[in-house]
Amino acid sequence: MNLILMGLPGAGKGTQAEKIVEKYQIPHISTGDMFRSAIKEGTDLGKKAKAFMDQGELVPDEVTIGIVKERLQKPDCEKGFLLDGFPRTIAQAEALENLLKELDSPLDYVLHVDVPQEKLVDRLTGRRVCPECGATYHVLYNPPKVEGKCDNDGADLIQREDDRPETVSKRLEVNIAQQQPLLDFYEDKNYLVNINGDQDINVVFEDVDKQLQTLA
Ligand code: AP5
Ligand code: MG
Repeated sequence: MNLILMGLPGAGKGTQAEKIVEKYQIPHISTGDMFRSAIKEGTDLGKKAKAFMDQGELVPDEVTIGIVKERLQKPDCEKGFLLDGFPRTIAQAEALENLLKELDSPLDYVLHVDVPQEKLVDRLTGRRVCPECGATYHVLYNPPKVEGKCDNDGADLIQREDDRPETVSKRLEVNIAQQQPLLDFYEDKNYLVNINGDQDINVVFEDVDKQLQTLA
């Protein structure tokens, strides 16, 4: 099962990814998560990515394409993969297409989690994440059992650096501009599946899952 999850910041890519990988046991490849862990570890990649992420800008294509190419060639991707937040530009989509041809591993679906833009600011500013296991919560829409603590490991939840209101508006602007050409790219190739992301988290997953069961 070779999948891409697309959607604007806050649409619910990470939230749905947690459920998909749990059920289908494929690796979750989130470029945003890869950059955040590189920043935490203080690597060169992290240093390169941080300045762009803090401004709500995209990390340059050559850096992003490089890390995804390396990741998709790891043995665990032989049984499939779930890309979250990649590709985000046409150059990235073309590089991915070439790589998947080389690997003889074609895409199945590009799942576009579609949410009205006016709902996204609330989703992002209310998001809380676990610094240990990466689980995602929302103070109103998906609260943890104990306020401020991760359900999985009890760690103190934190707010992502780029979820500050100033950065959120820039991220939305950048991603809105990039998204339509990519949706057109995948629609033309018949990979695109639109999912209504403006429903309860579990209902969104039911819709995703119905689609994935067509591959079983
Ligand atoms: P990345 O980490 O990918 O961030 P993003 O695309 O901005 O998306 P988010 O992770 O913010 O949102 P999400 O869709 O995962 O939503 P979530 O499930 O958390 O990228 C960060 C940065 O890295 C980029 O800005 C860029 O700088 C760089 N980068 C990454 N990839 C790149 C690339 N390919 N090229 C260049 N640069 C790249 O949900 C959000 C909130 O809503 C949560 O609180 C959740 O609980 C809640 N929620 C989810 N679903 C629902 C629902 N159905 N109803 C109500 N609430 C919900
Ligand atoms: Mg995410």
